[in-house]
Amino acid sequence: MKQDIDRILIARGAISDRVRSLGEDITKSLEDVEEQQIALVAVMTGSLIFVADLMRHLPMKIQIQLMSATSYIGKSTKTNNDPMLGKLPDVKDLHVLLVDDILDSGKTLTRIRNGLIEMEPKSIQSCVLLRKKLDSAMSVPCEHIGFDIEDEFVVGYGLDYDGYYRNFPDIGVISP
Ligand code: IMP
Ligand code: MG
Repeated sequence: MKQDIDRILIARGAISDRVRSLGEDITKSLEDVEEQQIALVAVMTGSLIFVADLMRHLPMKIQIQLMSATSYIGKSTKTNNDPMLGKLPDVKDLHVLLVDDILDSGKTLTRIRNGLIEMEPKSIQSCVLLRKKLDSAMSVPCEHIGFDIEDEFVVGYGLDYDGYYRNFPDIGVISP
């Protein structure tokens, strides 16, 4: 696996520092909300590791809901125009924290967020670990962003290429 990674973009130590501070910011933003009214909705599979780390920096009593989204088909590094979404969890009257790995075209997060808003949650905020410096990504409403990165295909810390490299502990760029 390691030999396929061209270079490390964000090392595990920097990721873990940033995840901790995101957790603190999110906790602060929800401090006036009654416990048991918060739903963390994590978009699988890319946010698998991110959300597992992030939720351990959220000390309040929250429910965790997983849903699936697929925007790449097979061996592609170009995002699909029409992401396939799994069933959305019921978030009526809840305060929602929507968590995904990365904003690229922004279609996945936009569609999920709009779908959740239709269920009339009390509030909604989004958190992504990475956002590509693209107009499409930068124009999507997102309250918490780990890192802004250049427009290149990254893997590791949950992000995959064709299903592989999710278990790589740093975020890196794969060799062409
Ligand atoms: P969007 O709908 O184009 O914003 O795509 C978002 C989804 O595509 C993310 O949730 C990721 O799963 C995947 N994705 C986008 N860019 C990358 C990347 O650079 N590496 C791996 N997966 C990516
Ligand atoms: Mg994803």
